[in-house]
Amino acid sequence: MCGIVGYIGHRDAWDIVIKGLKRLEYRGYDSAGIALMNGGLKIHKKAGKVSDLEAHTLHEDRSGTTGMGHTRWATHGAPSDRNSHPHRSGDGKLSIIHNGIIENYSVIKEALQAKGHVFSSDTDTEVLIHLIEDIHSDTTDLLEAVRLALNEVIGAYAIVIMSQDSPDQLIAARKGSPMVIGVGEGEYFIASDATPIVEYTKNVIYLKDSQIALVKRDELVVKTIDNIIQTPYIQELSLQLEMLEKGGFEHFMLKEIYEQPRSVRDCMRGRIYPNEGKVQLGGIKDYADKLKNVERIVVIACGTSWHAGLVGEYLIEEYARIPVEVEYASEFRYRNPIISEKDIVIAISQSGETADTMAAIELAKERGATIFGICNVVGSSIPRITDAGVYTHAGPEIGVASTKAFTAQVTVLTLMALYMAQQRGTIKQSDLVSMLTELDEIPSLIEQALKSDEKIAEIAEKFKDSSNCLFLGRGSGFPVALEGALKLKEISYIHAEGYPAAEMKHGPIALIDEDMPVVFIATKNSSYEKVISNIQEVKARKGKVIAIVTEGDKTVKEMVDYTIEIPACNEAYLPLLATIPLQLLSYHIAVLRGCNVDQPRNLAKSVTVE
Ligand code: F6R
Repeated sequence: MCGIVGYIGHRDAWDIVIKGLKRLEYRGYDSAGIALMNGGLKIHKKAGKVSDLEAHTLHEDRSGTTGMGHTRWATHGAPSDRNSHPHRSGDGKLSIIHNGIIENYSVIKEALQAKGHVFSSDTDTEVLIHLIEDIHSDTTDLLEAVRLALNEVIGAYAIVIMSQDSPDQLIAARKGSPMVIGVGEGEYFIASDATPIVEYTKNVIYLKDSQIALVKRDELVVKTIDNIIQTPYIQELSLQLEMLEKGGFEHFMLKEIYEQPRSVRDCMRGRIYPNEGKVQLGGIKDYADKLKNVERIVVIACGTSWHAGLVGEYLIEEYARIPVEVEYASEFRYRNPIISEKDIVIAISQSGETADTMAAIELAKERGATIFGICNVVGSSIPRITDAGVYTHAGPEIGVASTKAFTAQVTVLTLMALYMAQQRGTIKQSDLVSMLTELDEIPSLIEQALKSDEKIAEIAEKFKDSSNCLFLGRGSGFPVALEGALKLKEISYIHAEGYPAAEMKHGPIALIDEDMPVVFIATKNSSYEKVISNIQEVKARKGKVIAIVTEGDKTVKEMVDYTIEIPACNEAYLPLLATIPLQLLSYHIAVLRGCNVDQPRNLAKSVTVE
């Protein structure tokens, strides 16, 4: 987490850095700060949002053509002015911004304190800049001092360093945390991802792990932290600026919910051929033979991506007949999982940066498994460490609560399940033709599902003051229920639980009374009758029921308090449609409660700490 931006060139650094920080606020937003080279090294920093920093410095001199900034998600030290980045060295001449964690900071801190260093924050980052200062006192070359210091630290970092004595340079380095360098004419841009850069240049370098860069207006030197000079590879961004704007919507989350017909279509483009009954996945085609014979697939992911993994389990087992286990990446390493070179591991991550998922991948790799990635952010860390993978192509997701990334992940998993089924001969060709024909229709059906928005806003009004909520579903309706509950709790702060509908009688039914809203996934599929029984059990105890039903359903309508219709579809595609009204319900409830929908408290989009 945390977002970093740096600039050196001929323009006002402040404008570029502050705008960049606003684009990166999804990575953390509890404090922000900027350092400028402006007749000396000047630092402005403040607890709160980037806009608070902007307001706070309105009357300050913010000129200078070299600068760097940081938006924070606190790890070491509470959000406060003094813990905000940038941090300074003891003599005040060096400054650092940092995304990541220095794990051995306390040992280094003690050693530095013994040498007389005094610290003014509780952060691990301040320790790193003091360490660099300490080494620099014996090593005149600052780049070399940074390189030596990085060889002493354990942990993850993307850092930028400014020096009062070398005002025309920035030093940047990364390990485990992302960093992109934008290449302009006589100027360079540095950021955690490409979003702050795309407005100025399309030419970028993704700095690799353990690389360090000396960045001047007209010169870039990249070497490894082992001191080997590197030739950086410049690539062209496909990202468009409009993708990063709200486009007339009140919130990014709402925009992203409405983008789903497009994002699901983009995800399928060039990958399905309904008339021929063929799925083509270029990213994993070299593993077709392995897929034919694989005996087990393990899915690893966190949060919403884990929910997508659960949907994938239903689909892969149903169509490709391969046993699937879905694991929380955050727990995977903390037992001794049985995993070998025979297994395929699928790691799912919107950001491609989640530290828990990366750590789980490393473990699976050590044990010889073949790793596939399903990621959204092109060029992020997970696609680089996996053997193969399939991008979701949902476009940048800026709202912290994941919406379009989920449906895109489910779409990729659907394509993978059908691709595996095709390779293994576990699906009839005629069935594949009809499945793909129906899948091709899903974007239009999502468009229809979005038409219930107004009705959902009215239902939200009735439930906005609830303190708890249950979400129940069966089969692939269960992961949908989990995802509905997660969306509601993270953006509205209402306590919500997702359960398999049949599990309700084993405990949660005790919670039901006239104040408990219960959202059922009650569409016409193989578990329809059973779900109806569960609805009756809730109604018998005076619970308030909102049911997601298939268009035209009258039976459930007569039983429950509110229904939201979605178009009829093949049961395999239910999660792609049933999730839409749940996203909208959470969105409207959160707006009515006055919550910050795009930046819910305590969260960050890219969770780069374990
Ligand atoms: C929920 C949400 C999180 C993420 C989780 C994993 O709306 O966004 O639960 O799904 O932090 O993130 P990624 O997919 O980037 O690995």
